[in-house]
Amino acid sequence: MHGSGFLVVAGSVRPVRRALAIASWVAGIGAETCGQRFEVVDLKDLNLGLDDEPGIPAKGVYLRASTRRWSQLVTSASGVVIVTPQYNWGYPAALKNAIDHLYEEWRDKPVLVVTYGGHGGARCSAQLREVVGGMHARLASARPALKLSQAQIEADDGAVDPDRDFASERSAVEAALQELVALARIRAG
Ligand SMILES: Cc1cc2nc3c(=O)[nH]c(=O)nc-3n(C[C@H](O)[C@H](O)[C@H](O)COP(=O)(O)O)c2cc1C
Repeated sequence: MHGSGFLVVAGSVRPVRRALAIASWVAGIGAETCGQRFEVVDLKDLNLGLDDEPGIPAKGVYLRASTRRWSQLVTSASGVVIVTPQYNWGYPAALKNAIDHLYEEWRDKPVLVVTYGGHGGARCSAQLREVVGGMHARLASARPALKLSQAQIEADDGAVDPDRDFASERSAVEAALQELVALARIRAG
């Protein structure tokens, strides 16, 4: 298969957040269910500045080492899972910033969007799918939406036990990851 495995992007960067725990859970399911490598990428570690490249990303000339690293990760991946919370019906600004740092890297890239939030994050999913689709990614049709309880949202302590909290969504995540791997196989030919 083209690429060196799959990326799982943890889409939020708040000091106290659930994104990393949920992205790690998704990556674990991917490895177990699909027998492929799923590597978690933390946007915080990427340390991309806010729109800090002087050139338009579509030209692919990057001056920052952080952009080059991010570009290399996406380029070499067989596919990308974006795990993101819903923020005010959309998705975090840090995630948009990361997506906008690149352009051609997204073309034909198999992408799966996994959202979480009070009702699962369907509105965030729709917005993000429109953006990534506009960059010519190969979107998986599945839209796993992981539901947080009102108590979890109000506690806002970063706590989440995905095996317990998302037990009823697990099979949807498994099927979605399998769809992503199948898209990557088709792309690889
Ligand atoms: C700025 C902001 C906006 C939010 N908007 C929504 C929303 O529109 N719908 C929703 O279900 N939850 C919303 N929430 C609650 C998040 O689903 C919840 O806080 C989740 O843990 C955020 O992910 P994170 O911890 O990885 O940052 C919002 C949270 C934040 C911080």
